[in-house]
Parts: sequence; C-alpha cells; structure tokens
Amino acid sequence: MEYRSHEVRHRLEKVGRAASMLHMDVLLLIYHFAKFSTGNVLEIGPYLGGSTIAAAFGARESGLQKKIVSVEAGGRLKHFRLSSKNIIKDLKKNLTGFGVADDVTLINGRSFEEATMLAVRHALGTGEVGLFIFDADNNVRRDLDCYGDLLADSCWLVIDDYFGPAKAVSIQTQVNELVSQRRLVPFGYYGWGTWVGQWQRLPKAMFPIQATALYQGFLLSIDTKRSSTT
Ligand SMILES: C[S@@+](CC[C@H](N)C(=O)[O-])C[C@H]1O[C@@H](n2cnc3c(N)ncnc32)[C@H](O)[C@@H]1O
Repeated sequence: MEYRSHEVRHRLEKVGRAASMLHMDVLLLIYHFAKFSTGNVLEIGPYLGGSTIAAAFGARESGLQKKIVSVEAGGRLKHFRLSSKNIIKDLKKNLTGFGVADDVTLINGRSFEEATMLAVRHALGTGEVGLFIFDADNNVRRDLDCYGDLLADSCWLVIDDYFGPAKAVSIQTQVNELVSQRRLVPFGYYGWGTWVGQWQRLPKAMFPIQATALYQGFLLSIDTKRSSTT
C-alpha cells in the first residue's frame, strides 16, 4: 500500500501502540475510507479508540465535514497489552490525547439497546453513513439489522474477527450469509482476520421491521412533544 512509507503511517503506529488491537493495515484502511468515502462514520466497539482516532484523522484530512459516531458499551477488559479498568474513561483520554475528542460523538451503551439506537438515529440520518466499523461482539448481523438503513449504498464495512478467536465462527457465518444474500460485497481480508467490503442497500420497503418501527416511534415521539408545546 502507498501509505507504508507515508507520514500517516508513523502517526497511526503511535495510535496503534497506545490504543488499538487492530493491525496497522486495518488502521490505514480505516483512515483511507474515512478520508475518501462519501458520508459519515458509524463505529460499534471503539474500546480505547484506535480505530476511532484513525477514522477521525481520515475524516479531518478529507477537508469535508463528517460526523463520527462511536458506540461503546464500557466496563473493563483484560488484555495482554491494552487492559482497561474503565473503558469509557480511557477512551475519552485517548481521543483527547490524539486531539480528536471534538470530532467524535461518543455514545455510551450497547449497540442494540433502545436508548443507544435512538441516540445514533438522532445523530445520523438514512443513507448517511459511508464507513461502518464493527469490532464489538459476535453479532454483526444484529447491528446491521439495527442500523442498515443508515448505511449508504456502497458504504464501506470493516468487520473485525472474521478469522481468529472463538467469536469469529459466528461473524464468519453471518458475513458469508449476507454475502450470499448480496447485501455485502467482499473486497478482501486484512491484518489479523478483518473482513472489508461494501454494503448493498435494500429497497426502502424491505428494511428490517425492528429498525423501521423504532424510527417511526422516535418520529412520533418528536411529533407528540412538538404538538404538546404548541
Ligand atoms: C475488540 S474491542 C475493540 C477494539 C478497537 N476497535 C481497536 O481499535 O482496538 C471490542 C469493544 O467492543 C465493545 N462492545 C462489545 N459489544 C458491544 C456492543 N454490543 N455495543 C457496544 N460496544 C460493544 C467492548 O466493550 C469493547 O470495548
């Protein structure tokens, strides 16, 4: 890749050492997609923020206004290199340390919880996401059911753990199913088993009922609040 001798590689190496479990090639791809894809970024599972910071650098260097929305459950995690007793606190510290805290909308919650979904939908509209990063648990399908309507046609997806740990079995099965249903188009595998590809939008009428119903409920609640204040 052209970036191997580029200065951004040195910046991202620092990010990787301080804040990421992902391979350098994956951080570079996230940077590249955030810089060159059209639209905003939605991330599930930033942990200490390595992937988020890579996306924020790319978005900033695109010269365009891009939103970066990142959803993190929080808690604590033991890792041989990057443990945390308070994920949200350490994540905020890293975003600040690398100068991108103001570029990121951080949502503290599990991706599938109603409050989280409402907060994400408050920040991002239908078809606005050009890069979706999933590096959370073993259920990417669930989050694509929750947020698929926010993804633009040809949105780039970076899905970690396609190969590797125990959770990879489920991720791999889900991704393969979505590929065979032509919802996902594979591009390649990078780093230590990260799947990269693109999204194919469904016609509007076919969006999963869960997301559509929740969104309609959200609109209705805004409408009710508006009419009670007028
Ligand atoms: C493997 S780490 C992410 C690593 C990170 N992307 C990086 O660059 O190193 C997984 C993170 O996902 C979070 N997580 C797991 N399931 C989640 C969910 N359903 N919603 C939000 N965050 C989740 C965990 O708390 C953890 O911080």
